[in-house]
Amino acid sequence: MRILVSAGPTRERIDAVRFITNGSSGRMGYAIAIAAKHRGHDVVLVSGPVHIPAPQGVTLVNINSAKEMADAVLSAAPAADIVIMSAAVADYTIANPEKSKIKKRDGSLVLELVRTTDILAELGRRKKISQTLVGFAAETDDLLENAKSKLRRKNLDFVVANLVSDGFGGETDKVVVISSNGDETPIGPARKEEIADLLLDLVISSHKA
Ligand code: CTP
Repeated sequence: MRILVSAGPTRERIDAVRFITNGSSGRMGYAIAIAAKHRGHDVVLVSGPVHIPAPQGVTLVNINSAKEMADAVLSAAPAADIVIMSAAVADYTIANPEKSKIKKRDGSLVLELVRTTDILAELGRRKKISQTLVGFAAETDDLLENAKSKLRRKNLDFVVANLVSDGFGGETDKVVVISSNGDETPIGPARKEEIADLLLDLVISSHKA
């Protein structure tokens, strides 16, 4: 099968030297891509800036911004049987990034942020009947309720609900995989590699085509 995975953070440029990002390590997405490759699938990995070596045998597309992530993912998605959006895509980007470096002045600096494309929601709108779409929900509150609402709103087949009380970046994770037919599968605490493997078991065995 052809499996498209997104991973890592995005970087939204403020000026020539500064950007807004988040603490996503990319490790979950890379673990999923590597596990899928080991099973013999054709894997495309669209990745934000991370400190992980390029996985062997995987088609790696490096991007920086949410806009670049949207362009890469939405153009690769029609050919994919399974799409797994594990990237931590910025919900907002800078309205008017400066080409040169902003000089400090007295007083405060106000940045205007505008919404980015919700790639996962767009994938849900464009989804063909034979495609399986998987999203992640990193929540600090009301984990299962928020994750189930995301599953419905974005037309997903699975959502991986992840309580992020301590922010991103731990060695182990504890998630609940919720499927559109109502199944809830808790996984962990476990290493990301183990979660990736069990997630692929669920997603691949449910794939319709
Ligand atoms: N995502 C995306 N495009 C964005 C933002 C997020 O595709 N611009 C995807 C992520 O890859 C993840 C899922 O959406 O799979 C969850 O992102 P999140 O920001 O938590 O969901 P929202 O519903 O957008 O956020 P909120 O909780 O603020 O409603």
